Amino acid sequence: REPFTVLGIETSCDDTGVAVVRSDGEILGEAIASQAELHEAWGGVVPGIARDAHRDALGGAVELALRRAGLSSAAEVDAVAVTVGPGLEICLRVGCEEAVRLATAHGKAFVAVHHLEAHVLMARLACHPPPPFPFLTLLTSGGHCQLLLTRGIGDHQVIGSTLDDALGEAYDKVARLLELPVGGGGGPALESLAREGDPSATPLPVPMRNKPSFDFSLAYHRRLKTAVRLAVERASEEERASPAFRAGVAASFQNAALRHLEMRLTRARDSLGCAPDTLVLSGGVAANAELRRRTPSPRDDGAPWRMVVPPPRLCTDNGVMVAWAAAERLKLGLTDAPDVEHVRARWP
Ligand code: KG4
Ligand code: ZN
Repeated sequence: REPFTVLGIETSCDDTGVAVVRSDGEILGEAIASQAELHEAWGGVVPGIARDAHRDALGGAVELALRRAGLSSAAEVDAVAVTVGPGLEICLRVGCEEAVRLATAHGKAFVAVHHLEAHVLMARLACHPPPPFPFLTLLTSGGHCQLLLTRGIGDHQVIGSTLDDALGEAYDKVARLLELPVGGGGGPALESLAREGDPSATPLPVPMRNKPSFDFSLAYHRRLKTAVRLAVERASEEERASPAFRAGVAASFQNAALRHLEMRLTRARDSLGCAPDTLVLSGGVAANAELRRRTPSPRDDGAPWRMVVPPPRLCTDNGVMVAWAAAERLKLGLTDAPDVEHVRARWP
């Protein structure tokens, strides 16, 4: 019976996200604890450190999200949801154990959420009117780069996938190469540096230019990542220290990677025609302003697509997407037994 409220918990990687969301899409309260600084020294996410940080932060984040929603305990929500995969197993377990505990203690419905479906469905909370099924989704995150035909809840057809690195992973690797801060992912730092640079400064290949497929390649095929690495390694010490050179590399990488995405999307659009007529951008890299600006929207280039993209803070990992994905499932009567055994580090 609507409206109902869901408490959502996200601990699949390095963000402890919690939110209370109502079934009509209203975000009642949210809290997020980022571990960016903790992982900074290691140049990436260290699973054991991430797990401990989730353990330390989760109780407080649940309390804060509930308080911001005007609630005093989880007894006042209608359901509890948690990301159970894919992700870092020991981190997923922290969130799942807490969600199972809360659902059991208060006798609430429990929903086990797929992290990627949560990214995808975010578009249906963030945009009014929500895009109806089916829609095409470009999902780009730290672990994924996929083009999906989203036909409904739990019904996503993979049309194209990366053959090597995910787009966020490529941003992170190039950021590391340029010695930028990469604790919470190098994407945001690389994006700001690229804003200062000339996108044609470093000649780089656009991957799979003539390849008739919907797949992506950020690393090996036509060697985009290798070309960036060589450009940096072959530069002199002074050059490498120069802001203009560094910004040029960042801008050139971003330009080549986004050109690659544009070409894949154009191919998909030309093959699939107007059905579906909506393109959803989701996942962490969809927070990137240049990606949002360049991805074809129907009115600026005549593309027969309506483009839908959540606000940047809802593109990266958060608790809202988990609560909302669960709300979508609950509306169809879908629930799960409250059990930690739902955790699946790998989940297609
Ligand atoms: O969805 P997400 O928060 O976590 C995963 O599920 O992977 O995505 C994180 C990824 C990281 O690789 C991060 O560097 C990238 O998204 N990212 C960005 C931006 N914000 C986050 N990449 C490029 N530009 C951004 N503004
Ligand atoms: Zn994610």
